[in-house]
Amino acid sequence: MTAVFYRAVNATYPKAVHSEGMYIFDENAKEYLDMSGGAAVSCVGHQHPSVIAALSEQINSMSFAHTAFFSNDPQEQLAKKLSGKFSEAGAKVYFTSGGSEANETAFKMAWQYWRAKGLPSKQKIISRVHSYHGNTYGALSISGNLPRRRVMGEVLMDWPRIDACYAYRNQQDHETAQEYGLRAANKLEETILREGAENIAAFIAEPVVGASLGVVPAVEGYFKRIAEICQSHDILLIADEIMCGTGRTGTFFAHEQEDFLPDIVTLAKGIAGGYQPLAATITRAHIHETFTSGGSGFDHGHTYVGHASACAAGLAVINVIEDENLLQNVVRQGQLLQQELEAAFKDHPHIGDIRGRGLFRGIEIVADKSTKAPFPDAAQITKRLKQATMKHGLICYPGGGSFQDNLGSSIMLAPPFILQPDHIDRAIDKLRAILSDIFDD
Ligand SMILES: Cc1ncc(COP(=O)(O)O)c(C=O)c1O
Repeated sequence: MTAVFYRAVNATYPKAVHSEGMYIFDENAKEYLDMSGGAAVSCVGHQHPSVIAALSEQINSMSFAHTAFFSNDPQEQLAKKLSGKFSEAGAKVYFTSGGSEANETAFKMAWQYWRAKGLPSKQKIISRVHSYHGNTYGALSISGNLPRRRVMGEVLMDWPRIDACYAYRNQQDHETAQEYGLRAANKLEETILREGAENIAAFIAEPVVGASLGVVPAVEGYFKRIAEICQSHDILLIADEIMCGTGRTGTFFAHEQEDFLPDIVTLAKGIAGGYQPLAATITRAHIHETFTSGGSGFDHGHTYVGHASACAAGLAVINVIEDENLLQNVVRQGQLLQQELEAAFKDHPHIGDIRGRGLFRGIEIVADKSTKAPFPDAAQITKRLKQATMKHGLICYPGGGSFQDNLGSSIMLAPPFILQPDHIDRAIDKLRAILSDIFDD
């Protein structure tokens, strides 16, 4: 009898005992092909020798020194590296342990920034439906993942939300993609005008929506317009790149492909590739300067901020991405993955859409391809997908699935950047068997 309070309280889980490259093995030596890096985490694959070596070296020399008293080499070097990758010089990096903490840090930066500027009424943070920014109270309050919000009843704060840019469902027949993008972005301006810019601190969005929608990039021009609106109303723009950042879409930051500069970017998951819990909140220099020049400081902190071994793992992971030229592979294999998924499933009666960027791809499942209606029991389909993928030894990320919210079930693929064509072939065979289990029985 286990003493673990599991995530899914009635579930039983196989025990993972070994992992290597693209694979995880359980206690019965069953092999699982890892096509989602868990949840877009394992970006350089499992047990990479250089990451293990860097981590071991750090733990052997200095395992912990609280960053309220000391800095450490790994956090200094990793901050320099991330700041150097940001499109504007002088960005500063605040390290925490997970995505929710990184977003909470971003929210506090926004709130304290406006207080330091003498504008304390700028408090609300606008987010999008559907979106997920974390599971802590603030981060879930400022998320538009409707099924997850519903579970919490009325406990969460209820701040304004606009629809995500989701062309598959929301672009109208008479609109071009650009016209739709503009219409979707202008909803932000309408919301700001309705709420009063003097009450809005920030707007947060994922440049490519991850698990909440099953990988949805915005249409061209959408984020450029969003950035213009934020700038003209003095609203900070936070890019949540916790899933889509750290190279997942083929550029180090996902927003690079959208041609806008966020005020704050959050990274987690891939940043330390699963070797350690690590997240980063990266802020433009002008925000940091507000805290240093006014003398107000930034009041925040957690015990493991800037943890040396977590940062050592992060530094080693980013070195691997650079040294092995992995972003080139993300682009190349990402295109192949999209082609192969389309060849295999485009004509499947229940696959409504196949989309994404780089090694970040989503498949949306619908009951009826012409109306795009989800199955009435879409949530159950997501559950059955989870069971079937494990049965067939495929790690992917089934999500979505809400008839009430007009949201199909989705399968998210976010494999390690070391992916090769034979892994894609194996994954497609497994997906075929999984879909057959769900729809042909
Ligand atoms: C876009 C996004 N933001 C925030 C989070 C929260 O990260 P964590 O689970 O590490 O707290 C997630 C996690 O899935 C995410 O996908």
